[in-house]
Amino acid sequence: MTAAAKRLHVITWGCQMNVYDSARMQDVLAPLGYAPSASAEGADMVILNTCHIRDKAAEKVFSELGRLRTLKQAKEAAGGRMVLAVAGCVAQAEGAEILARAPFVDVVLGPQTYHRLPELVARASRAAGAVIDTDFPAEDKFDHLPAPAAPHGPTAFLTVQEGCDKFCAFCVVPYTRGAEQSRPAAAVLAEARHLVAQGVREITLLGQNVNAWHGAPGGLGALIRQLAAVPGLDRIRYTTSHPRDMDDGLIAAHRDVPQLMPFLHLPVQSGSDRVLAAMNRRHTADDYLRLVERLRAARPDLALSSDFIVGHPGEQAADFRATLALVREVGFAQAYSFKYSPRPGTPAAAAPGQVTEAEKDARLQELQALLRAQQGAFNADCVGRSIEVLVTVPGRHPGQIAGRSPWLQPVHAAGPATLIGRIARVKITAANPNSLSATLVQPEHLQA
Ligand code: SAH
Ligand code: SF4
Ligand code: F3S
Repeated sequence: MTAAAKRLHVITWGCQMNVYDSARMQDVLAPLGYAPSASAEGADMVILNTCHIRDKAAEKVFSELGRLRTLKQAKEAAGGRMVLAVAGCVAQAEGAEILARAPFVDVVLGPQTYHRLPELVARASRAAGAVIDTDFPAEDKFDHLPAPAAPHGPTAFLTVQEGCDKFCAFCVVPYTRGAEQSRPAAAVLAEARHLVAQGVREITLLGQNVNAWHGAPGGLGALIRQLAAVPGLDRIRYTTSHPRDMDDGLIAAHRDVPQLMPFLHLPVQSGSDRVLAAMNRRHTADDYLRLVERLRAARPDLALSSDFIVGHPGEQAADFRATLALVREVGFAQAYSFKYSPRPGTPAAAAPGQVTEAEKDARLQELQALLRAQQGAFNADCVGRSIEVLVTVPGRHPGQIAGRSPWLQPVHAAGPATLIGRIARVKITAANPNSLSATLVQPEHLQA
């Protein structure tokens, strides 16, 4: 099969697309003899798959590189070699700066060149200096990547779309991931069937703007209908969506396709039209509220999640109150919220009306308290109900299993490990801050 196993350690930050990409980098290196390793110590190769979305995320990379330098030197002192690669969005945005600040890095590669990893590693082994590849190549990396190796459980990610053309004023993604690109429907369906054949029962379709997918007529809604026809694929999700790309066909899929889970992550960022305009979101708060209405009309049990930024340039106290008002009007099942972080090269970083750190802190705390309360209420509402859970892993204690609800809540119950990979009916007995406790209603092994 392969040459003597070399140890590959991958560290992943950022969004789910990076999680997917990290797995694919492991797949492309497997034929070269690289097997995954849980630790960087003594590894033959370490890949940092990085995120540039906020300043803190990018700085973590440089502190991790400091730690890895010591391990790399130790390996060299022992006569070995550790290839150090920086991939992902920091590599794309700051390739040259990485090599200036961390000259011991061997390979720098952007998100569109992972299929070239074997060649880059070979070149790095020959070269004295580092190799860097942050192209947006003409060839499609997906055509050159092997099929995903065995996934580790009943759920999997599947990238269907990459890149972003929206250019929100605060965001680096259009620069780090490039223009919107859709994978062809046939490639997506083939990968989905391959995953299902390996035991996957739930697939989350990924894209920086997943609902901008236009790999076939009918858009993402039509793709979801095709995926729903794949036997054995019980659950379909997709993330992340942009409100402007939520078309009628996709809304109708929420009404018609039972496999499409009733949970939608739909970032709104702000509830103030002034701030939404400054952000270049190209929708108003009211557009978002009407969209939520239509989605809930299509799928009454739909739970919503969102992203919020507080302290975007130009955000005043009244704008922030408009965000709180929107949150109260929608009622979110969960959400992510962030302090605005100026990103080099984005329009918002140079915009007037920058908000003080103290103001951002205060607004974030207030917003998060409200969102936490809504999440708590949503979870509490589930108590006493009988729901279906996809059992994904053994629980923390022996005799326990864990999985996720249709609304993506983690659920724990006493039950046999034989249920892993199956959908079990449970009754929710308690709501905890971030999960639900349940008892099995009808263990599947007792069913006819
Ligand atoms: N494509 C998605 C998500 C992109 S990044 C979308 O359109 O919503 C994930 C989240 O990070 C964003 O939704 C936004 O809330 C946050 N984010 C992006 N840039 C940021 C910045 N400069 N400062 C703070 N948060 C940011
Ligand atoms: Fe960033 Fe906006 Fe594109 Fe989302 S839609 S990735 S926030 S530019
Ligand atoms: Fe981060 Fe890049 Fe994803 S900046 S959020 S890893 S697209």
